[in-house]
Amino acid sequence: MKKILLPNGLNVSEVALGAMMFGSTTSKKESYEVLDTYMDMGGNFIDTSNNYAHWAGTGDESETLLGEWLTERGCRDRVILATKVGFDRHGQGAGLKKEQIEYWIDESLRKLKTDYIDLYYAHTDDTNTPIEETMEAFDRLVKKGKVRTLGSSNFDTWRLAEANMTAENNGWTPYTVMQQRLSYLNPKFAEAPKYAYNEVVNRERLRFLCDKNMPLVSYACLCKGAYEDPARLPNEYEGGTRLEFIRNMAAEKGVNPSALVVAWLTNLHRCKGFPRVIPLFSATPEQLKQNLRGLELLLSDEELALMNEIK
Ligand SMILES: NC(=O)c1ccc[n+]([C@@H]2O[C@H](COP(=O)([O-])OP(=O)(O)OC[C@H]3O[C@@H](n4cnc5c(N)ncnc54)[C@H](OP(=O)(O)O)[C@@H]3O)[C@@H](O)[C@H]2O)c1
Repeated sequence: MKKILLPNGLNVSEVALGAMMFGSTTSKKESYEVLDTYMDMGGNFIDTSNNYAHWAGTGDESETLLGEWLTERGCRDRVILATKVGFDRHGQGAGLKKEQIEYWIDESLRKLKTDYIDLYYAHTDDTNTPIEETMEAFDRLVKKGKVRTLGSSNFDTWRLAEANMTAENNGWTPYTVMQQRLSYLNPKFAEAPKYAYNEVVNRERLRFLCDKNMPLVSYACLCKGAYEDPARLPNEYEGGTRLEFIRNMAAEKGVNPSALVVAWLTNLHRCKGFPRVIPLFSATPEQLKQNLRGLELLLSDEELALMNEIK
């Protein structure tokens, strides 16, 4: 895997690894195998949260497992570690108030057994807290060296713009990465998102990110395995022509469809109006090896344009 130097200075691999279920539904042994395989293949960008995966346990499992793995492997300095604050944990923890941010960063650092986070995300917007309070609290973490850079996830574009304007006006650290849903399949925009703001990105949001030179980390980009097995299609996506097209094109290229999705996402920035996209997904070691073959595919301008044109 190649590394990409992001505008915020983080040098990340082209694909990020999701650790959401590590330590809960994915056992310690399986999680270590995925992490080791990913690192062996040149990966370094690992994604977790202070609440993963509370719906399958307490919410401490993923960070705790990663802390143990980082310590056992002695590889903290080779990993770009991203974690998050602000989402629900068993009915608690939702919000981006100063006290919440200060409390949860120390919890994350303790569980991850590290003294800094490379990329700290606001996991979702908090419209009940003044933006000034949130951005100042985050900035203080950067000034203290607990956090290197900031990202936002599940924010409306205009709220992200307001937050960054507030940061700029006050000399505070802005959000420099967005984490949001994007995949090759067309979203059903009429479908209400499960949680507020976690819609699939639309073209306007992509143009905004492109204009601001802000990368998009596209979470859940393999649609829970639906490219391989259309029966697994999540409710928020249309299957239809695009699913059929990508499955056929992948067969012609001799790769699995998820690999072609990875290829499409990592090449999108070559097209006008698209930002740099870093696909974020979880996978077994075998699935990971299959999917990363997408990084070796050469997509011509014509092929990319054709993929984009499919309705
Ligand atoms: N910011 C947010 O609000 C937010 C929300 C959700 C997730 N995330 C992040 O995004 C990460 C990824 O989420 P996700 O796991 O739901 O992503 P996803 O891309 O929708 O699904 C990944 C799943 O697809 C299946 N898959 C992948 N490659 C495959 C292959 N070659 N063949 C067959 N099946 C394949 C696997 O499921 P099976 O193992 O079941 O086969 C794999 O676990 C999370 O770990 C988390 O870090 C962030």
